[in-house]
Amino acid sequence: MRPAALPFLMLLAACDGWVESPRPPPPIPAPEGSVAQGAAARRAALAPPGPPVDEALLREGAELFRVFCAPCHGPSGAGDGVVTRHGHPPIPPLPRDALQSMAALQSNLAGAHPVEGRLDPRQRWAVSRFVERLP
Ligand code: HEC
Repeated sequence: MRPAALPFLMLLAACDGWVESPRPPPPIPAPEGSVAQGAAARRAALAPPGPPVDEALLREGAELFRVFCAPCHGPSGAGDGVVTRHGHPPIPPLPRDALQSMAALQSNLAGAHPVEGRLDPRQRWAVSRFVERLP
């Protein structure tokens, strides 16, 4: 090794520990039997029969479906959304039953179903009631 390289190598070695970012502390586990804040209200809002099915709810559902669902499930829920023309594996037709849709949207499919967690309870009802009425 050439002597001129030595200070450079020493500098590199000194930097080594310094660049490493600190690890965040592990999460504190929730006390046993505790319920997340707002969880009861959320469960109640998701429980059937849900909000009254009126024109406003269905209009909201139609818009949500167009934005969040149709790209995959297709405009009529047949599973022919635009993504299937661009390499997405086939998508089964949507179940028409609102409660079944609700169950699917409520269950913790985190990661498996892309919209999980993005819709609040009223929005879930709106989109489910709209799906139920698709031709
Ligand atoms: C990125 C694509 C994608 C989007 C966006 C999407 N879905 Fe899905 N969805 C899927 C696929 C793929 C399946 C079938 C596989 C599965 O169950 O995970 C599915 C399945 C479902 C099912 C049936 C689940 C079951 O167990 O029977 C329902 C109900 C559903 N989606 C509702 C929706 C609604 C409502 C929206 C919009 C708010 C939506 N999805 C948006 C891809 C998508």
